[in-house]
Amino acid sequence: MRNIRIFDTTLRDGEQSPGAAMNIGEKLQIAKQLARLGVDIIEAGFAITSPGDFEAIKTIAGEVEGPVICSLARAKEDDIKRAWEAVKDSPKKRIHTFHSTSEIHLKYQYRIDQAEALRRSVEMVKLAKSFLEDVEFSPMDATRTDIAYLCEVTEAVIEAGATTVNIPDTVGYTIPSEFGELIKTLCDRVKNIDKAVIAVHCHNDLGLATANSLSAVLNGAGQIECTINGIGERAGNCSMEEAVMALRTRRDIFNADTNINTVEIMRSSKLVSKITGMSVQPNKSIVGANAFSHESGIHQDGLLKEKSTYEIITPETIGLHKTKFVLGKLSGRHAFKTRLSEIGHDLADEEINKAFERFKKLADQKREIFDEDLEALVSENQTTVPEKYSLVDMHISSGFNEKPTAVIKLKMDGKIVEKHEHGDGPIDAVFKAITSLTETSSKLIKYEVKSITGGTDALGEVVCSLEEDDKSVSGHGADTDIITASARAYINALNKLAARIKNN
Ligand code: KIV
Ligand code: ZN
Repeated sequence: MRNIRIFDTTLRDGEQSPGAAMNIGEKLQIAKQLARLGVDIIEAGFAITSPGDFEAIKTIAGEVEGPVICSLARAKEDDIKRAWEAVKDSPKKRIHTFHSTSEIHLKYQYRIDQAEALRRSVEMVKLAKSFLEDVEFSPMDATRTDIAYLCEVTEAVIEAGATTVNIPDTVGYTIPSEFGELIKTLCDRVKNIDKAVIAVHCHNDLGLATANSLSAVLNGAGQIECTINGIGERAGNCSMEEAVMALRTRRDIFNADTNINTVEIMRSSKLVSKITGMSVQPNKSIVGANAFSHESGIHQDGLLKEKSTYEIITPETIGLHKTKFVLGKLSGRHAFKTRLSEIGHDLADEEINKAFERFKKLADQKREIFDEDLEALVSENQTTVPEKYSLVDMHISSGFNEKPTAVIKLKMDGKIVEKHEHGDGPIDAVFKAITSLTETSSKLIKYEVKSITGGTDALGEVVCSLEEDDKSVSGHGADTDIITASARAYINALNKLAARIKNN
């Protein structure tokens, strides 16, 4: 059985999804979850692009144990030096450098010839190698690159010290049979191919990223680059959960598996969705809300008789359990701490105290507290962003014959300020008051409300995305009152935007 390495790029290519920018605390939270999930390599960012990205990689390199921590770098001296500075504290580190190789890119974007691209690639792999052992090289737009030249580049970078050569389908152009053939050709023609792992990095423009990655595995690839929920540039990347579960479910065909602890898949998916503000479509394979729902009577009949009639993966395999009532108003700190630990959150005493305070408030509003509510409480606690603005109080009035009104009291840079506004609805009035108090010039690009569990007393979760000067962020808030949750989400997004503008 071959072991296929999982290279997770949620924090780098995933962050290139519009609106998915994450702050350092959020990236660290995801990186820790990726380590629990068992990914082999975390591409934690692109160090040269901003001080924020650099700090995030450095923090992850210093704090996250288990996976190799990697930074992306163009084939340029400054990029590689910056990547090295970012990853050097990790016991397991990698630099991933890349240069385009396709004629289209070399002619129109770089305006250099093949020989010059080859020279730069080799030189920069050598530079990276002077800092560390584990070096990955990607010939960008490989699937539109002349095959003889691609073989020449692959051989030269391995000779220069690359230990992984990644074949990106940068524009999501290839199809499974063609991509499989390409990987096979590299294995057959490149003399020193046994000295490196072949990786693949597929984009989903034609909806084929997972199929292409699996076809590559069948033809010799030993590493899949992917993201949680398949997020990423444009239509996204190969989805980690799809690739991993396809390999696991059809081991008979692939004769290969990964180190992924699949019971952590669902939690990883929810965390990434929450932090990036990118919802998962209900019919998404593996992690969509409907992935394990059976509507048709014939299917339900079969399932009741024997699960395997219509179920190829059990929900428990990916960590999906039936929603359970766990705690309530009378539950104590010990029961709360124990349940958190059972669902994977071992928090420090101080964090437990904060979360327990919120739990008590919630238990006053809501009779039954489910695991999903606990996850929301904890993740709210862990989302660290400096609070330039905080909500002190709010009063809302609205009715059939009444113009909706909001009175909002905020603490802004230490001072208490208040504003009264009307709106088309109570949420519109709240947002207008906050906009006016903070004098933000950001644009609201997304506003979404969903309930975390069932019932009219459920926690409502609001995601709100803002954009200003090409920077976009998503904020979230959860409360049994969706107007309060909306105000919290908006303020959370404004705080993130302020921090982002300061850090860049
Ligand atoms: O899609 C791509 O080609 C990339 C490279 C940097 C690997 O993301
Ligand atoms: Zn990519």
